[in-house]
Order: sequence, then structure tokens, then C-alpha cells
Amino acid sequence: MRCVAPSTETGAGAPPAAAEERDPAAPRRLLYGRRTGPRLRPGRRRLLEELLPRLSIHLPAEGRLDPATLFPRPVAAVRLEIGFGGGEHLEAEAAAHPETGFIGVEPFLAGVARLLAGIAARGLDNVRILVDDARLLLRALPDGSLARIDVLFPDPWPKVRHHKRRIVAPSTVAEMARVLAPGGELRLATDDPGYGRWMLAAVLGEPRLEWLAGRAADWRTPWPDHTTTRYERKALAAGRRSVYLRCRRREEERIGLA
Ligand SMILES: C[S@@+](CC[C@H](N)C(=O)[O-])C[C@H]1O[C@@H](n2cnc3c(N)ncnc32)[C@H](O)[C@@H]1O
Repeated sequence: MRCVAPSTETGAGAPPAAAEERDPAAPRRLLYGRRTGPRLRPGRRRLLEELLPRLSIHLPAEGRLDPATLFPRPVAAVRLEIGFGGGEHLEAEAAAHPETGFIGVEPFLAGVARLLAGIAARGLDNVRILVDDARLLLRALPDGSLARIDVLFPDPWPKVRHHKRRIVAPSTVAEMARVLAPGGELRLATDDPGYGRWMLAAVLGEPRLEWLAGRAADWRTPWPDHTTTRYERKALAAGRRSVYLRCRRREEERIGLA
């Protein structure tokens, strides 16, 4: 695995954010793993060239981005999925909740193309996409602007020397807690037991979040409305058990009492 520089090959996605250069406190763009895969079919390539620019999010060079303004019509709430892979879960959720706006972040172009095919086939108008590092989007979002964040089966980076590459970490969980509205949900899943413990420690260490499990079945089984992802299917086929963590953003006034 290697750290890959941001690609501009589609002409879409966020332009290199000037604010990163100006603001030493800004997170660096850190992308590990592959961004391109096998040669894409012409139809998928066309979607990247023609549909992606219409759905791409461009991060502001400075200041915040109100996510509700990204959609062509008013939305009741905005949700975010980080590292959507092939986009099966995001596509199913967007189709099931047309009143909600969905933002998907994924740097792997073949996955983005797969999601675009689903969006086009279903005629979805409530999905917007960032082809980049999710940390850059989190930083640009205003406090309390999201109703839910899903991070499903993120790359586990099991070797200790690679733990710093994990997208779920105390610093990102703090940003997720900041951008979630009170009562909003963070849903995390992994098939790597070590990453599961790491995720739980990050959540329990964040005072604005409350883990919603009351019994073992709550974290051992997917939530009732869950759509199985491609990576999760592979884990199931290999006999690996997964961990499902559902957390709620506490109400502002209760944080000091928690
Ligand atoms: C193991 S895959 C899981 C994909 C999908 N969620 C699933 O369950 O099938 C992890 C995904 O996270 C994406 N990813 C890695 N680093 C990322 C980052 N910094 N921001 C957003 N997505 C990222 C990868 O490209 C990859 O598609």
C-alpha cells in the first residue's frame, strides 16, 4: 500500500484546497491504497466524465460548506457515508429516503463509477459525491450539520505501524461528533476485532457521543435496516464476524453532565 497523491484525471472532485496550504491547522490529504483499478468499461468511463462533474462537491478554499445547499431541492436532513466502496449501501439508502440528501466520499474511482451507474439507473437526485479524503470534507462542514454518518468496513490497517492510517481515530471521531446534530447518529462497522476495539475506545473517549448498545446482540448483529455492503459480504463468506457500533450525538446541554 502507498500514499497516493490526489488525482485530477476525471477533472472532477475537489480542486486542491488552497486553504490547506494557508492554514497550518488544516488536515493534510492522506490517501492510502488504490485510487484506480482495472480499466473501466466505456459506459462507466462516460459516467465519470459526464455525470460525476454534475454531482461532485467542491470544497471551499476557506470557510464552511452548508451541505443542505448541495442538493437541487430542499432536503429534510443530510447524511454522510465515508468510504462507500462500490456504493451499494449509499445507493439503497438514498433510494429508500428520497427526502434526505446523501453525501458519499470515496477516492477509489471504480467504486465511484459503480455508484454513478446506480444513481443513473434509479434516477436519484439526492446524492452528491466527493472523490477525495473524507477528513477534508469533515473539516469544511459546519457544527451540527449532519443527521447521520456511516463508516462501514473502513480499511483496517491491522499492523501497529499502520494504525495512524485508520480513518476512524480519536481526531476524526471528534470531528464527526462536531458535525453531527444533537440526536444524530454515527454508525461504524468492521470485521477486524482489533479495529472494533479501537473504534469503541475512540467513541467512548468522545464525550459528545453515546454508544447505544444495551446488550451483546446490539453490536454483534447489523442494525435492522442495514444493507449489506460488498466488503461485508466477503467477510461473511470468509466466516469473519463483524462488529456494528451505533452511537448517538448527545444533546448539547447534557454533555457536561455525561
Ligand atoms: C474496505 S473498503 C469498504 C468499502 C465499503 N464501505 C464496503 O463496506 O464495501 C474501504 C473504503 O474506504 C475508502 N477510503 C480509504 N481512505 C479513505 C478516506 N481517507 N476517505 C474516504 N474514503 C476512504 C477506500 O477507497 C475503500 O473503498
